[in-house]
Amino acid sequence: MFGADSVQSTCMPTTVRSFAKINIGLCIGARRPDGFHELRTLYQTIALHDRVVVTVSKGAGIELHCKTPGVPLDESNTCWRIVERAMALLATPGRVRIEIEKQLPVQGGLGGASSNAVAALLAVEHELKRELPLADKFGLAAEVGSDLPLFLIGGTVLGVGRGEEVYPLPELPATACVLATLGIAVSTPQAFADWDRTQEQDKLTGCFPSDRINVFCSAIFSGLNGFLSRPRNAAGRHSSGVPAAEGRGRAETQLLDLVRTGIANDFEQVVFPQHPELAKVKGILQDEGALYASLSGSGSAVYGLFATRQAAQKAAGSLEAQGTRAHVTTTVSRKGYWEQLLV
Ligand code: C5P
Repeated sequence: MFGADSVQSTCMPTTVRSFAKINIGLCIGARRPDGFHELRTLYQTIALHDRVVVTVSKGAGIELHCKTPGVPLDESNTCWRIVERAMALLATPGRVRIEIEKQLPVQGGLGGASSNAVAALLAVEHELKRELPLADKFGLAAEVGSDLPLFLIGGTVLGVGRGEEVYPLPELPATACVLATLGIAVSTPQAFADWDRTQEQDKLTGCFPSDRINVFCSAIFSGLNGFLSRPRNAAGRHSSGVPAAEGRGRAETQLLDLVRTGIANDFEQVVFPQHPELAKVKGILQDEGALYASLSGSGSAVYGLFATRQAAQKAAGSLEAQGTRAHVTTTVSRKGYWEQLLV
């Protein structure tokens, strides 16, 4: 991404936008011998972001700064962990100062900590004017957390394995998104453990995790296939395929192809009963006409995708009127992700 041949830092800070993600569907499979769960999900980056400011100067070590409570400032922080590994691989001496300016909720299911780490890695590369081989970056990212590698791709991304094995997918069109944040922190390991308990009961009914995962994947591909098989216009872009008289825009139609397949986030089954207010927010987004509404990751953020920005703004207004914090944002394509990364 950042071509150069010198190893010297400019001592000027590098600021990187650290975008959030949402999960459009998330299917949890069996717990593996390594303790992680096999899963399948569709990640989508969105415009809401933190900022990560990195300076590399003479010396050694890492220092972390963040004013938001709940963000660890020691070696347990994902930024620290990835930068420590990257500096060792780059074999470059230097003192790395990382400042995280938080907008995204902590433990919100939006991949904030994961995105911050990838942003810090890319900022260090920019500071040093040196790049690690891409395979090394994916390796480091996967080592630090399951949700990191997606941020080395951006846009619409298929996540498999424990979520760390990522594949760029044909992009969903830019879509207005309402994000509701309720200030509830959900522990992901706890949500997985709660899911395991529900599965003990399902085993008795003969429903196997691998069957569910296969059904989920075929749903995603049939949804995307509808989009891909549409005729392209002269510019090579997909046309909507739906008569204008129906009044549907291109974004709406393509997204509907996907969500009509019935993909869902399994975490809702364990998180909603514990936090019924989250289910209520999803209901409001649906009532406001969301094309799709869901918990993101293990939550607690709940989002709705809307056909127009006006519809999104109206839905956000309804949520705010009922005392729920709501942000209107948009999905970010792979191209947009990389173009807007450096501030
Ligand atoms: O990889 P990450 O640090 O995000 O994982 C946090 C925790 O979530 C893991 O230690 C594990 O308990 C749980 N997890 C899981 N299956 C996954 C991803 C995470 O059980 N696919």
